[in-house]
Amino acid sequence: MTKNKILSVTVVAFLFSFSSAFAQSKPWPVPKDALLIKNPYAIDEGAVKSGKLLYVKYCVTCHGEKGKGNGIAAAALNPKPADHTSAALQAEPDGSLFYKVTNGRTPMPQFKTTLTDAQRWTLISYIRTLAAKPR
Ligand code: HEC
Repeated sequence: MTKNKILSVTVVAFLFSFSSAFAQSKPWPVPKDALLIKNPYAIDEGAVKSGKLLYVKYCVTCHGEKGKGNGIAAAALNPKPADHTSAALQAEPDGSLFYKVTNGRTPMPQFKTTLTDAQRWTLISYIRTLAAKPR
């Protein structure tokens, strides 16, 4: 190998590792019928309160106390935990968020067996309160 070739291989390898270290989350397809599912429970103060307690217990380590995706475990994860305050996330239908919390996708755990349907819906109600306030 010539010196130039070695250099370009190194540069390519460097760029590749750089881009994968900062990889954005890939699109996460949600089945159409799951998208249409509506929260069958009341979305009220009680639901939001229960959701918050579960969020602190199960989600904050990765998603952060305010849901910004910056929990203490976040630095080690690829892709990074989602920012629950972002406009993009808040634009997703409830059914989409519910599907993702239910099924997970590595490194995001699945909560299908850990939490009941009702508990997962309270989490969605709570996540809705995290929307970034317009400045
Ligand atoms: C071990 C770290 C970890 C924990 C704990 C965790 N998450 Fe996640 N979460 C992630 C990661 C990483 C992603 C991005 C996954 C991807 O895009 O493939 C994610 C993605 C999500 C998404 C999808 C966001 C989007 O863009 O649509 C939702 C919703 C979500 N998490 C909710 C929760 C809730 C609610 C809890 C607690 C019950 C929780 N997560 C616990 C790491 C975690």
